Amino acid sequence: MLNKELVSLLNDQINMEWYSAYLYLDIYNYYTDQNLNGFGNWFYIQTQEERDHAMLFMQYLLNNSEKVVLQDIKASNMLFHDFREPANAAFEHEKKVTASINNIYAAAYEQKDFRTMQFLDWFVKEQGEEEKNTEDIVKRYDLFGNDAKGLYLLDSELAARVYMPPSLVL
Ligand SMILES: [Fe+2]
Repeated sequence: MLNKELVSLLNDQINMEWYSAYLYLDIYNYYTDQNLNGFGNWFYIQTQEERDHAMLFMQYLLNNSEKVVLQDIKASNMLFHDFREPANAAFEHEKKVTASINNIYAAAYEQKDFRTMQFLDWFVKEQGEEEKNTEDIVKRYDLFGNDAKGLYLLDSELAARVYMPPSLVL
């Protein structure tokens, strides 16, 4: 049995991960519509990763005989005015996800719930990568994106990303 507050936080995190998947789908749609298929590819894979995160949180609750309560997923429907905005929105969003994971970790720590802390360790590390990866896209866009050839090369670079299933096994 897990602490009730922790179960509630973990259920909310499932929703946040699905929302992340939705947000990145929105970004995928934007870039693909703008013919930046490499940027689109990068965010399509990001959507797949977020879905994986949601499933991992769900499976963790199930493995601990806790009830999963699925919640409505909000559509982001963001309006983007330039190519930089979606990447920056992703970076800003990842910082919020990190804060949320840290908050669950703090609650687990308070409960001396070492199993949940160990489960969350993977996500703590993952969030470090998510923040860096999204920030890198913003920085590289600022460096190279304002020139047509630079943008083309950056788009080609992002087109090379391939989906890798999460390394965490429950
Ligand atoms: Fe995530």
